[in-house]
Amino acid sequence: MRIPDVAPGARVLAFGHYQPATIVTNDDLAKTIDTNDEWIQSRVGIKERRIAPDGESLEDMSVQAGGKALAASGLSAGDIDLVIVATCTLETQIPNAAAIVAHRLGIRAPGAFDVNAACAGFCYALATASAAVRSGDARHVLVIGAEKLSQWIDWTDRSTAVIFADGAGAAVVGASDTPGIGPVVWGSAGDRSDAIIIDDRDSFLRQEGQTVFRWATTALHPVAKEACDRAGVDPSELAAFVPHQANLRIIEAIARKLGADNAVIARDIVTAGNTSAASIPLALSRMLERGEVRSGDLALALGFGAGLTYAGQVIEIP
Ligand code: UT7
Repeated sequence: MRIPDVAPGARVLAFGHYQPATIVTNDDLAKTIDTNDEWIQSRVGIKERRIAPDGESLEDMSVQAGGKALAASGLSAGDIDLVIVATCTLETQIPNAAAIVAHRLGIRAPGAFDVNAACAGFCYALATASAAVRSGDARHVLVIGAEKLSQWIDWTDRSTAVIFADGAGAAVVGASDTPGIGPVVWGSAGDRSDAIIIDDRDSFLRQEGQTVFRWATTALHPVAKEACDRAGVDPSELAAFVPHQANLRIIEAIARKLGADNAVIARDIVTAGNTSAASIPLALSRMLERGEVRSGDLALALGFGAGLTYAGQVIEIP
């Protein structure tokens, strides 16, 4: 048996993102459910979110985000030999999204699979992509986080309708002489698997908000710290901290406990809502577009959500 030449490192070569055109404000929601802008902004941090119309699918959003990342990487479709879509909101279970998205992007016969680790999904997928590149199993990997949560939300349930949203973010991963994606720290707490759940195919998403809130604000800063330690990076060296965009109060609590004092904290939730597996690449791509992070900066990504699952790693900005 022979094994291929291994690459010393893997890095993100480019990001891309896509948001549906329709903006839904808190005041829009308050017209149909018993809520208000003050409650949503003070408890969750969201001002507005994007919702995809009926005719726009998770795959459509993935193609848009993936296509932009591919174009920004300077590579062509033929350079990609693995496509991973992180999602937990497919409309149907079969077929997977990755093969459809690859086909629509003109990527011929790549490996293609979906990852469901809910809101931690992008960090799981990025770690898998990094390992595939470093082992020589793939030259370049297109990693997409995409969600159409709106199709799994009861729009009369104020506890979820004000939080979740739609969107997609993507990254192209390739080989590198120096590591640009740090070791992943991942884990789960399956004893609390019913804290965020869709009970059956006829049900909508529901969550025990306070249970998840307590877990997120007490159990995750050590994971963030360990991801820094394993990458040999002190939190003070981080230029950005990009946790899953679940709740602004959670984001700020973890950031405070981590002590990433020089980092820009991603607050994409304010205008993007909670887009689960899409939230981290969406936030990173938008921060790069706005010039809030620059090439060579170190960012810590930290995903967490249903499962309960979590994963984090340090990423060098392309
Ligand atoms: O992305 C996956 C991971 N998920 C998370 O990280 C979610 C973590 N949890 C949270 O972010 C928060 O728990 C929520 C945003 C979901 C809820 O915020 P909270 O501060 O925990 O509110 P609560 O559920 O304790 O509700 C407080 C009050 C209740 O009224 P009473 O019983 O005090 O009279 C609720 O009925 O707020 C009420 N309420 C609302 N009021 C206006 C709940 N939802 C709403 C609403 N508008 N949309």
